[in-house]
Amino acid sequence: MTGSAPAPSPYGEEPACGEEPGRGEKPARRLGEPIPPALLDAGERMGVDELRAHQLTCLRATLRHAYDNVELYRRKFDAAGVGPEDCRTLADLARFPFTTKADLREGYPFGMFAVPMEQVRRIHASSGTTGRPAVVGYTEHDLSMWADVVARSIRAAGGRPGHKVHIAYGYGLFTGGLGAHYGAERAGCTVIPASGGMTARQVQLIQDFRPEIIMVTPSYLLTLLDEFEKQGVDPRSTSLRIGIFGAEPWTEEMRREIEDRLDLHAVDIYGLSEVVGPGVAQECVETKDGLHIWEDHFYPEIVDPFTDQVLPDGEGGELVFTSLTKEALPVIRYRTRDLSRLLPGTARPAFRRMEKVTGRSDDMIILRGVNVFPTQIEEVLLRTPGVAPHFQLRLTRQGRLDHMTVRVEARPDAPAEQRAAAREAIVRAVKDGVGVTVAVEVVEPYALERSVGKIRRVVDERG
Ligand code: DLL
Repeated sequence: MTGSAPAPSPYGEEPACGEEPGRGEKPARRLGEPIPPALLDAGERMGVDELRAHQLTCLRATLRHAYDNVELYRRKFDAAGVGPEDCRTLADLARFPFTTKADLREGYPFGMFAVPMEQVRRIHASSGTTGRPAVVGYTEHDLSMWADVVARSIRAAGGRPGHKVHIAYGYGLFTGGLGAHYGAERAGCTVIPASGGMTARQVQLIQDFRPEIIMVTPSYLLTLLDEFEKQGVDPRSTSLRIGIFGAEPWTEEMRREIEDRLDLHAVDIYGLSEVVGPGVAQECVETKDGLHIWEDHFYPEIVDPFTDQVLPDGEGGELVFTSLTKEALPVIRYRTRDLSRLLPGTARPAFRRMEKVTGRSDDMIILRGVNVFPTQIEEVLLRTPGVAPHFQLRLTRQGRLDHMTVRVEARPDAPAEQRAAAREAIVRAVKDGVGVTVAVEVVEPYALERSVGKIRRVVDERG
């Protein structure tokens, strides 16, 4: 599972840090400074052999803890005819049953907790739009581990003690705000707990408090950028130098857009409530080549979403995580529904990377037999002159056929003829690149609803 040949990087060959691309070459990503070795923590200093041994010890303990303390795990392991003692190597994990969001919902609210309630210090819930949320709990030890992995993520992004961090992820049951908050404090930073919303005030705070770092969803960052422009402030003139963006998919094209408009390093942070929250994996600023998974706490697998088979590193499929050090809510082979693949480590050689998540299996639109992810449309739009990165995908049914309309805003400075050309260019690029015919409406600037947290790209009116 871990020994297969490394696949070529989908990120292509990158110049070494600080190297400029030659004339005529495609401009490479602008990379940050590598982390000084003194700032690496004990987990990051492990070699691969030590890491694998640590993982196996923790995995066996986690399976035992889950089996002994959570009825649902006991039932599922028994039904599959496996027990914690059957895990002798990391590959044996494949014999254990998966856990799904439905399992967490079945146990609503606290049925999956593996410790008595007196030991649970905090509760969060996943951002489900339908049905019961999945409720997650943390012991004191879990909260400390979480702060450690987020602090490690902030350092990997280039954050240093003394930096001010503007946190515009929502606070509350969502793990984004508080997860980032305690991690930033643990990293020795000064936290500005702005949360989501009150956009005009956020722009004011950024100008007055002069933070170096912003942590926010990429879609809410775009809302903040509009507000900068509305207030006549050049976003490139702010103190912000690092943006740590996650909680929703975003593309390389969006990275370029954000980096150009704000003159900062944009890096990706990944996580999900069921596994811990933000800080499961983080992109390093010196490579910007996918996210290193903090494998000393979270064991990744990629499975074929249809056959459930474990796939070798390098192959694309659904990410599955097993927690290695959690007490209140151990998760065994949790099916994330996020699509990615595992790649060898680079900036942190012992930890594998996951390719940027381009979509969830739930977000996939099947349009007349073709699979379409909103990120594929985002890529096309951001490459098209004259349109802004604000878009919505409207699905309708005409007779027995499904139709998709891409509604995208014109850039405020785009002349009328450029808008018309953009419409044609998008239709063509989606047809050629994605393989479907869509209708395109280029709407007025600011016509589409703005995000204050995670954005909803798809409006399904098919009934
Ligand atoms: O979104 C945790 C988080 C907060 C991550 C802030 C990063 C930053 P949930 O609300 O449980 O938790 O949603 C988890 O969001 O399964 C992915 O589908 C999506 N997601 C999270 N990070 C990324 C990312 C938080 N970097 C779900 N890229 C996950 C793409 C992401 N999708």
